[in-house]
Amino acid sequence: MESMTGPMGVPARTAPGRAPGTAPLDEEPLLRLRGISKRFGAVQALYGVDLDLPRAKVTALCGDNGAGKSVLTKTIAGIHEPDHGQISWEGRPVTIRTPNDASALGIETVYQDLALADNLDIVQNMFLGRERMSGIFLNEDSMERAAAQTLAELRVTTVRSIRQPVATLSGGQRQAVAVAKAVMWNSKLVMLDEPTAALGVAQTRMVLDLIKRLKDHGLAVMVISHNLNDVFEVADRVAVLRLGRMVAQADISTLDRESVVDYMTTGVSSRVVPGPTSQRPEA
Ligand SMILES: Nc1ncnc2c1ncn2[C@@H]1O[C@H](COP(=O)(O)OP(=O)(O)O)[C@@H](O)[C@H]1O
Ligand SMILES: [Mg+2]
Repeated sequence: MESMTGPMGVPARTAPGRAPGTAPLDEEPLLRLRGISKRFGAVQALYGVDLDLPRAKVTALCGDNGAGKSVLTKTIAGIHEPDHGQISWEGRPVTIRTPNDASALGIETVYQDLALADNLDIVQNMFLGRERMSGIFLNEDSMERAAAQTLAELRVTTVRSIRQPVATLSGGQRQAVAVAKAVMWNSKLVMLDEPTAALGVAQTRMVLDLIKRLKDHGLAVMVISHNLNDVFEVADRVAVLRLGRMVAQADISTLDRESVVDYMTTGVSSRVVPGPTSQRPEA
């Protein structure tokens, strides 16, 4: 095992400007980023960022506004190409230059604005741009069956009809459709940017349950969130960005709200979280 500076690799103290070691994982993660940097003109958005996203786990990506969460997500999604750094996928080095490259690997992203077409129904939205054809005609039956099956697998049961226009759905239902759309394409990693930001209590519950189901299906999930209630409800691991640097990456059992806030605001935390699980990695 790699040497650690604190429980599960959370450094008790980190020199300013230096990224601490990441929490060691027992197995090769699905996605591994090393030393990812990205500059936009005068703005250095990411400085040598390391990140591991394991399968069948939810990783929360936390950080204040402007920390670089969206830029990092878009780098994984093929929207931004990093200036420096390596990306490996299933243990092999890859280059992700376009969103198509990301999709081909099995990476799907649910963005904050959801990018759903209000005037189209659920099936049309889920197949937008990837319609199934039967000769020159759309294969409506096949698309309807696949959409219904995916929604059923995710136990999204509150929509009345999959032929309902998306405009008629609640915020939580829209989020569910966007997530179902993302997982329908044999995806292995789903990234969600602030999925509960616009939702009420009941809808938030539904989306958090949906995220847990994605992980139960074996997917790697990365959730960007400001909401520490959501983070502590749903995440197995937490990664914290501050001013473009990864300042902490650890098992959630080694953190508490206060230490996450410490990392987000100052980049360090001197808190050591007590508890029976904090000293050993989970099986
Ligand atoms: N396309 C872009 N061009 C220039 N600067 C950008 C661009 N995208 C993001 N930035 C800058 O990069 C930094 C990180 O932004 P972002 O990743 O959106 O933060 P957040 O953690 O809030 O999602 C900010 O300073 C932002 O202004
Ligand atoms: Mg953002």
